[in-house]
Amino acid sequence: MDKAWIFFVWCIAIFAPILILLRRRKPLTTRLPPGPRGWPVFGNMFHLGSMPHRTIADLKKDYGPVVWLKIGSMNTMSVLTAKSAGELFKNHDSNFAERNITEVMKVHDFHKAAISLAPYGSYWRVMKRIMTVEMVVQKRINETEPIRRRCIENMVEWIQDEGVINGKVEVARFVFLASFNMLGNLMLSRDLVSPKSVEGSEFFTAMLEFMEWSGHPNVVDLFPCLKRLDPQGLSKKMEEGMGRTLKVVAEFVAERIKERELNGVQKKDFLEVLLEGNDGKDDSEKFSEHDLNIVVMEVFLAGSETTSGSTEWAMVELLSNPDIMAKAKDELARVIGKGNKFEERYIDKLPYLQAVMKETLRLHPPIPFLVPRKAMQETTFMGYRIPKDTQLFVNAWAIGRDPECYEDPLLFKPERFLGSNVDYKGQNYELIPFGAGRRICAGIPLAHRMLHLVLGSLLHEFDWEVDEIGRNGIKDDRERMGVTVRKLVPLQAMPRRCST
Ligand code: HEM
Repeated sequence: MDKAWIFFVWCIAIFAPILILLRRRKPLTTRLPPGPRGWPVFGNMFHLGSMPHRTIADLKKDYGPVVWLKIGSMNTMSVLTAKSAGELFKNHDSNFAERNITEVMKVHDFHKAAISLAPYGSYWRVMKRIMTVEMVVQKRINETEPIRRRCIENMVEWIQDEGVINGKVEVARFVFLASFNMLGNLMLSRDLVSPKSVEGSEFFTAMLEFMEWSGHPNVVDLFPCLKRLDPQGLSKKMEEGMGRTLKVVAEFVAERIKERELNGVQKKDFLEVLLEGNDGKDDSEKFSEHDLNIVVMEVFLAGSETTSGSTEWAMVELLSNPDIMAKAKDELARVIGKGNKFEERYIDKLPYLQAVMKETLRLHPPIPFLVPRKAMQETTFMGYRIPKDTQLFVNAWAIGRDPECYEDPLLFKPERFLGSNVDYKGQNYELIPFGAGRRICAGIPLAHRMLHLVLGSLLHEFDWEVDEIGRNGIKDDRERMGVTVRKLVPLQAMPRRCST
């Protein structure tokens, strides 16, 4: 063999394995996560059904912990297990810190001013800091306890009256009203839902309306080329409903600004904190009145239906499991004492009630995909190539039912959280009803108080039963999509005031 041949054979021997390795590695980084094949143009749109969090959760058995979908023209990745969520939040959180914005959320520039949707930048950073460091903090929450107590007393009275008249009540409706008033007092120092407040009830009605529209699937999100046509008229309806809500908020805010100019600072509510954020700043640095109005409105959106929906599911689970209901009520009677009112200071002494709430949020997170995010840059996630602008659904519903984290994941067993350190503050990826990472919920300390106060009071003040219709209702676990996911058939239960 001449020298040229020997050299040629050596080259092949050395370079061929390298080339093979490179060829093998290439598909690893160019490969998208696995997922069901979609239709041309429509992609997987028709796979999703009316409860997409459940349909997508089901894909795990065929495709694994990360699935890929094409929803219309939108690339979408969904993360389905605690382990893959951990990988996401620990190593990729900053790349997914931007939100995916749906068309209806662009009306009145809501997506620019709302903390939950604002671009990941300086406005979001300042507003989120104000909310988490100055507004929703233990000191301020403690100071406002009497207000929430009063809202709960009203709720108990309303439920009792309705129970006497109709025999049963729609639990979520009363909890929603009470939550709305708690938030109204925290933000604006006023009851919004009361026979005396005309603007308040206008605000409430307009807001209910646009909350409904915001949850409808919109064909424009799937095919942006239809934007101008707005075929379902959703943007128009949102524009109108949100416009009416903002008009009322704008009046409240303008009234307060005038009051401050005339009499100085008189109130110490969340609106005051927002206004103080502007004090002493140049005009160019100040939040606009529009920004403030949107953030005020956002707090109602963020805190009312989430609280009422979670409480409703907790009651459904307790009515389906009378032994667990009895244990929760026994604990309340033991710690608070019959005849005494539920107070927030008891929450820390009620581990079973807290476990009931965690177990409820594990099985029924009110925002099952969290607030969708999107990839700011192309990235490699768990060996898959994720193109820029991919929409991300972190499926908290699927994660809460992950059999690798929970024994008997489909059973309602609050005991699993007794003596466990697992919490919903974003450190334990198996329980993320409030999300995790940079864009975690800004209202957790307040939500924690409100949820336990409401559920604890309902259980401590009333004994609950269901009739035949109610029994069928609690067996029906279907949900409907809105700003949050709610029970499709509302819980109707019969309250009987506990003897004091
Ligand atoms: C049961 C009650 C609540 C639940 C289940 C809930 C859940 C959530 C979830 C899942 C997110 C998205 C997190 C993520 O993407 O990782 C979020 C964001 C947010 N929540 Fe809550 N929330 C609740 C109550 C509240 C309350 C009472 C407030 C306000 C006082 C609030 C204010 C916010 C804000 C401002 C954001 C946006 C954070 C950001 O984008 O940086 N939430 N919430």
